[in-house]
Amino acid sequence: MNDINSYKGELSFWFMVDKDVSAGEKVAKKVVKKVAKKKEDKGPQLIDLPGVGPGAVAKLEAAGIYELMGLAVLTPTGLSDMAGMSEAVARKAIQAARKMMDMGFIDGLAHEEKRKELFHITTGSKNVDNLLGGKGIQTKSITEAFGAFGSGKTQLALSLAVGVQLPIESGGANGKAVYIDTEGTFRPERVRQFAEGIGANADKVLKNILVARAFNSDHQMLLLDRVADLIKDGEPIRLMIIDSLTAHFRAEFSGRGMLADRQQRLNRYLHNLMKVAEQNNLAVYVTNQVMSDPAQMFGDPTKAIGGNIVGHACTYRMYLRRGKKDSRVCKLIDSPDLPDNETVFMIETDGLRDLDV
Ligand SMILES: Nc1ncnc2c1ncn2[C@@H]1O[C@H](COP(=O)(O)OP(=O)(O)OP(=O)(O)O)[C@@H](O)[C@H]1O
Ligand SMILES: [Mg+2]
Repeated sequence: MNDINSYKGELSFWFMVDKDVSAGEKVAKKVVKKVAKKKEDKGPQLIDLPGVGPGAVAKLEAAGIYELMGLAVLTPTGLSDMAGMSEAVARKAIQAARKMMDMGFIDGLAHEEKRKELFHITTGSKNVDNLLGGKGIQTKSITEAFGAFGSGKTQLALSLAVGVQLPIESGGANGKAVYIDTEGTFRPERVRQFAEGIGANADKVLKNILVARAFNSDHQMLLLDRVADLIKDGEPIRLMIIDSLTAHFRAEFSGRGMLADRQQRLNRYLHNLMKVAEQNNLAVYVTNQVMSDPAQMFGDPTKAIGGNIVGHACTYRMYLRRGKKDSRVCKLIDSPDLPDNETVFMIETDGLRDLDV
């Protein structure tokens, strides 16, 4: 926890791609305005819960909990620690939140209706879009791309960051992207090329991508709260990219004895990612490296970092590898609603190009 605190000083680290140094200040000002803005929002708020006063709300918000759902899923002990209230009061508040939210079953038809709110975001390749069900990646889910270095994970991320900005009828979600860069591989000039490839204004496209460099796994986790803040402040974010999801966790928890700790933290992070994705109807795209698996005797001796934890948390998993003649092969694995299948595309200067399968 101390590590996290030491990063609080860096919360103004957010910057726009155009190097607008005042962006951090703007965010800070917006945060101040937030309390006033909240009152205009509809529906029950944290403050409406019994035993939850303004002080408790401030503490909860500092911990990244802004909505009833965030509170409703806490345990009484967790809430009591976070908000500085007794466990009895915490239990009452949680019960009230659950009641207000009508957290129960919904029938299949209502569920289908809810899924219609989803947005889809084109990857820039029709082949890959089709692999993912026809329209690319979707909101309220996590899509993972894993593969060796140079397999195209970052190129796909950059292409999505452009695609999300397209109008809905052109395969986008008419929104902005957040790019959490853990490896320093975000390249504005590549975004420019992708934007120009579809005839878009490259400056505008870059302006709609909010980039933050995450220096370690604590910082990476903390930045998720900042994304929630940005959305609260009205930024129309529809896509969050984490490139790479696992690199920091892998580097920091490398010893054998640290594996359980690493998995636990990764699990918590993925859980929070999913929560942000569901609560805000946004798509999450994460990249993941592979390692060689000495136990594998036949076929491809590589497997994704993070094992089952990452596999189970991600709704869609794509395995990327180099194919013949500089092509990229993209394989969909273990999807809840789509057949396992694979397709081929090329990475070109001005975008992704399809190849006949
Ligand atoms: N301007 C370009 N024109 C054509 N191909 C390019 C261009 N820029 C990059 N590429 C291709 O993309 C590859 C890099 O892909 P990418 O950066 O997506 O890899 P990655 O999967 O993210 O790897 P890592 O695990 O190292 O991050 C290069 O090896 C090259 O083949
Ligand atoms: Mg990369």
